[in-house]
Amino acid sequence: MSNKKRVFSGVQPSGAVTLGNYLGAFKGWADRQHEKVNFFCLVDLHSLTVPQEPAELRANTRTLAALLLACGLSPDKCTLFVQSHVVAHAEACWLLNCVTPLGWLQRMTQYKDKSAKQESVFTGLLDYPVLMAGDILLYDTDEVPVGDDQRQHVELARDIAQSFNSRYETEFFVVPQAVIPEVGARVMGLDDPTSKMSKSSAHIRGHAVKLLDDPKEILRSFKRAKTDSGNEIRFSDDPEKAGVNNLLGIYKVLTEKSNSEVESDFADARGYGDLKTRVAEVVIAALEPIQARYHEIMSDPGELDRILAVGAQQAAAVSMPKIEEMKRMMGLVLPK
Ligand code: AMP
Ligand code: TRP
Repeated sequence: MSNKKRVFSGVQPSGAVTLGNYLGAFKGWADRQHEKVNFFCLVDLHSLTVPQEPAELRANTRTLAALLLACGLSPDKCTLFVQSHVVAHAEACWLLNCVTPLGWLQRMTQYKDKSAKQESVFTGLLDYPVLMAGDILLYDTDEVPVGDDQRQHVELARDIAQSFNSRYETEFFVVPQAVIPEVGARVMGLDDPTSKMSKSSAHIRGHAVKLLDDPKEILRSFKRAKTDSGNEIRFSDDPEKAGVNNLLGIYKVLTEKSNSEVESDFADARGYGDLKTRVAEVVIAALEPIQARYHEIMSDPGELDRILAVGAQQAAAVSMPKIEEMKRMMGLVLPK
């Protein structure tokens, strides 16, 4: 067995992929894939927890797979697969449902936020973190690289793992850890730097940069970005300066520079207009090769299907024995 750490993360194939997803998640996954054993999952079952247009969900799943590859995930180093292709995920969710107190789910802040926005709330939305815990625990995951917004869900997966282990007096589940990047963990909306840049708001003009936006759109979005009435270009915790802070944060992750290097890059900037243009240029340059590679991948759908089929096989080879053992421990009779 390799002593490399096991990494598992998931991303929902709903809505347009944003710069927040890239900086908070995909870039780090790709940069560190050589050091670890990686499982990256397109969590389509999670997407079903809010209403979806079936044809759109299908198309988005393929787009996302191609984008992840275009962002640098290599099928040689990562198992990239679609959650619904591996039945162990739905099964793990059921089995874990039966040992997870309802109160733990009702406390989740994402559930409270999302349910407040829905006219009718389906059971899957409440159960979402249990499905996610199953995803993580099936692969003996050590590390879960996610953005800051997912911290509470990973905590819940830890709680579920620990309570299962103590109930059955085993060390059956590895207790996973969230790995949250220091920078890029929370890219904020360009239109409102107090709220997270999110897929679900990506249709609002000026809110998000989408990974497939063309350079003109990207520049336009940055030019409209909300800043403050001052003119100081520096990192700051001051809520007034959240807009400038967000722009500098985006620049910092992409250029991989320190705070002081970033600030000195802008020492000669002529006001916020200049800051916005320069950040936009860095983003455009970073996304250009990703977009080119994306179009190349999408032009060969057979190859994309093949990569996902291999991924599903590799994922099943790990998760199917795990779920069998889980069933056995819980008292289910396995078929002969
Ligand atoms: P989601 O778009 O919710 O499926 O998230 C996929 C991954 O991207 C997760 O690891 C999120 O934490 C991360 N992510 C999403 N939005 C942002 C954002 N605005 N800033 C940083 N990370 C993000
Ligand atoms: N809930 C995560 C998100 O929206 C996606 C996800 C599902 C996930 N299963 C996971 C992330 C397992 C990490 C590990 O971002």
